[in-house]
Amino acid sequence: MLNDFLPISPALRQVASDFTLPEPLGFGTHVAPIMVTCDFTSGAWQEARIAPFQAFSILPSAKILHYGQQIFEGMKAYRYENGHPRLFRPLDNLGRFNASARRMAMPEIPSQIFMSALGSMVHYLRGVIPQGVGESLYIRPVMMALDSGLSLAPSQDYRFYLIASPSGSYFAGGDVHALIERSDCRAAPGGTGSVKTAGNYGGSIKSAIHARSMGYQQTLWLDARHQKFVEEFSGMNMFAVRDGILYTPELNSTILPGITRDSVIKLARSLGYDVREEAIDIDELVSDIKSGICSELFACGTAAIITPVAALGEYDGTLYTLQNTASPVAMTLRTRLLEIQIGLADDPFHWSQVV
Ligand code: COI
Repeated sequence: MLNDFLPISPALRQVASDFTLPEPLGFGTHVAPIMVTCDFTSGAWQEARIAPFQAFSILPSAKILHYGQQIFEGMKAYRYENGHPRLFRPLDNLGRFNASARRMAMPEIPSQIFMSALGSMVHYLRGVIPQGVGESLYIRPVMMALDSGLSLAPSQDYRFYLIASPSGSYFAGGDVHALIERSDCRAAPGGTGSVKTAGNYGGSIKSAIHARSMGYQQTLWLDARHQKFVEEFSGMNMFAVRDGILYTPELNSTILPGITRDSVIKLARSLGYDVREEAIDIDELVSDIKSGICSELFACGTAAIITPVAALGEYDGTLYTLQNTASPVAMTLRTRLLEIQIGLADDPFHWSQVV
């Protein structure tokens, strides 16, 4: 059980308990009125503290604003019928956060600081963890470079902070259609595609705008070298079900190692599915969708959980629609995953951590 909580002042405790669940919830729209901050200065992490959610003062010359030295995570706390809140695989998020820190030449955060920040936010905000299906307290740990200066050099000072937002579904509802991006690229080999840094996401927005204007909700990215192999959606990993077998692109330096992706693989195998991590040729995938060999596509990630994708499409509007709209494999995995996350089903993998 995670119970190493940071102290909170009576005034902030009141602020946290006065916060009520916003209506409608949306995703990441309403941010809780408290946060945790912890600074890295003089070569060491300082004391973490709970603060009101409020604007930071950073200099216009801060390195984060010029060179994007920033990393983040997406996590969720669930609560079922007023039981204890639960986090899902928090140590895996910590591990990925520190892998991102290493790639972005930032200091790693000690487990104790990360976990007590996380546990404290979940504990003090436990009254506003929504309990509808797929709803949760979405948590965003972030680290950014604070040094002032325009030389392209690592910062000495950093800020870690953690904010939270009671959230519902990432997708607004209705079928999810994804645009196959055959022009821009998300990540190149040896770049930063496999870590969680803002630039990977900022670079996807141009495609997202185009996709939205055509009625698509996501972009599906292809590998930068050949524009041939599927990588991931802008904010989540991808699975295809072909002839009853689950396929997902194998991890490399351009694909984010999703914790939900890993959970899907392990869960699906435990349920008897054959799961293969291998290159997925986009043209073969399209042809398998057209012939019905590919019966399902789904997106998975912390925010998206497991969301069926009903069609892929092209810039010219050509749509490849999946024939099996019920998405039985995706929905079976989604239900089982959510049951583990809220503590309703056996957790053979010990993923769910009580706070
Ligand atoms: C998450 O799934 O937590 C992410 O960080 C993806 C983001 C696009 C919401």
